[in-house]
Amino acid sequence: CGIVGYVGRENCADLLIDGLSKLEYRGYDSAGVAIFDEGAIRVVKAQGRLACLEEKLKSQGWPTGHCGIGHTRWATHGVPSDVNSHPHCGKHTAVVHNGIIENYIEIKEFLLGKGYTFQSQTDTETVAKLLDYHLENGAKDEFDAISRTLRQVRGSYALGILFDSCPDKLFGVRKESPLIVGLGEGENFIASDVPAILKHTRNYYLLEENEVATLTAEGVTITDLDGAPIEKEVLTATWDIEAAEKGGYPHFMLKEIFEQPSAFSNTVSPRLRDGKIDLGIELTDEQLKNFKQIHIVACGTAMHAGIVGRYLIEKLARIPVNVDVASEFRYRDPILNKEDLVIIISQSGETADTLAAMRLAKKHGAHTLAVVNVVGSSIAREADSVLYTWAGPEIAVASTKAYTVQLSVMYLLAFKLGLCKGTLSQADAVALIDELAGIPVQLQSILGHAEEYKAIAEKYCHAEDMFFIGRGLDYALSQEGSLKLKEISYIHSEAYAAGELKHGTISLITDGVPVIALATQQRLCEKMVSNIKEVKARGADVLFICYEGYGDCSEFADSVIALPQSNDLFAPLLSIIPMQLFAYYVALLKGCDVDKPRNLAKSVTVE
Ligand code: G6P
Repeated sequence: CGIVGYVGRENCADLLIDGLSKLEYRGYDSAGVAIFDEGAIRVVKAQGRLACLEEKLKSQGWPTGHCGIGHTRWATHGVPSDVNSHPHCGKHTAVVHNGIIENYIEIKEFLLGKGYTFQSQTDTETVAKLLDYHLENGAKDEFDAISRTLRQVRGSYALGILFDSCPDKLFGVRKESPLIVGLGEGENFIASDVPAILKHTRNYYLLEENEVATLTAEGVTITDLDGAPIEKEVLTATWDIEAAEKGGYPHFMLKEIFEQPSAFSNTVSPRLRDGKIDLGIELTDEQLKNFKQIHIVACGTAMHAGIVGRYLIEKLARIPVNVDVASEFRYRDPILNKEDLVIIISQSGETADTLAAMRLAKKHGAHTLAVVNVVGSSIAREADSVLYTWAGPEIAVASTKAYTVQLSVMYLLAFKLGLCKGTLSQADAVALIDELAGIPVQLQSILGHAEEYKAIAEKYCHAEDMFFIGRGLDYALSQEGSLKLKEISYIHSEAYAAGELKHGTISLITDGVPVIALATQQRLCEKMVSNIKEVKARGADVLFICYEGYGDCSEFADSVIALPQSNDLFAPLLSIIPMQLFAYYVALLKGCDVDKPRNLAKSVTVE
């Protein structure tokens, strides 16, 4: 979910709607605002996209106040509806919340027993009512009510709070879910993420666990729960405003796909010096050499980058690597040792399961190395070492450039580990580094074929099911290609190891079912062709992704995407582009909301 709060001299509703539009990628089931309007808190909320809220505000009269909070929601407790939308109110309070209050049932029962009533099914409403309860039962002031409330709730939260008694003040607090405090001139902000405030200020504080921010137009104070002031460092956002805008592209996703060459260079170039790799982390070569086992833990697309990482590290550094989805890893009592390296991959740096998995690894004494895109995010701050990817803000829910730069870091790490282990010679490393540095040029040339991929998407966009198959690195890429397609086009799609298909799933291949077959791994190509013929014999319509100059494939391929010749090891960086564009155009042709696919959210800060 996304939170924005504003206090200053401008029209608060204008600012909140604009800020929320920058955070809509965090959730978009419903949206709402609470604004001081003529001395009282006015709440307006609407199910659906932010535009529905905007319409409602227009039709009911645009609020004129200068202080308020807003929210865009990704439903956890309670279906998306007007009443379950945030803000939630008590008699004296309005609250927006990101996270989950784990003991809300207990609190709700306590409050019901005291005669409080509830409108919604949400956990958040219990916070609003609990604040009321403390105000009415001995809290010295609003701050004390917050402090008492926070001592009673369990779970994760970022909260924005208004009290009807303080029409020019807003409060922000966090535990686990992110919240920043933007520092302007005569105006101040709270927000879940930097893009929401970038238009107004680059300076911000990052709230830490259970710090309470009290904001007025004139200033911000940060205290602990006892009210003791806390000195905070002012951080400066380096992202361009343009980076968080569409910049002429119809969708963020398309823009971000096209940003991949520069995102790749920004991530890789600073780490290469005179044919050598400088990861810029504290780990010495000796430490890197001594890791006995590596775990890569992540969710979604980031986990898919980890699968490629495993191939690369095992191949080049000969260290055993496990890849796990964070939600499984954290609960399966993994075998972790002090000699283990745990690589945590996350674009946002805030994914709840990934963060929890990292904490578990730290508890067991493993070294945690985070590969993260958002500077200062929770995972980045808590990891033992951080390797930032420099993709810039990724707004489209379906991850594209963040994946590519995560892959680029996997290459750098695999080379570095191989060198430290002595499994990769200096000369081979120099050659590989050279090829890696040349990838952006190849990416650019593949992007030049976007129209061709669009034409192929036209052919396949009416399919109900699709299958992606590949072997080795191509299988790893199939998984990401398939995820991209289903995320945004809602076409059912599965990725299979090409050799495994015949052990069950081939029963689903009937006349005309599209099978996207990747064959960039020379030594596995013949085997791939056999597998393709197996599906072809069952009626599949095969889209073949291979290198240019493959030769005659008309016997088994119905359509072909040819990639520039490359070292097989680097094929993932190339083959991902047509698959992203294929998914994008299929979704576009189907009329889907490409940047905000149904039921998804970009940053999932609940488990
Ligand atoms: C969500 C997003 C995915 C993303 C995953 C992990 O599910 O919709 O696109 O891959 O979270 O996010 P992270 O920020 O940890 O990379």
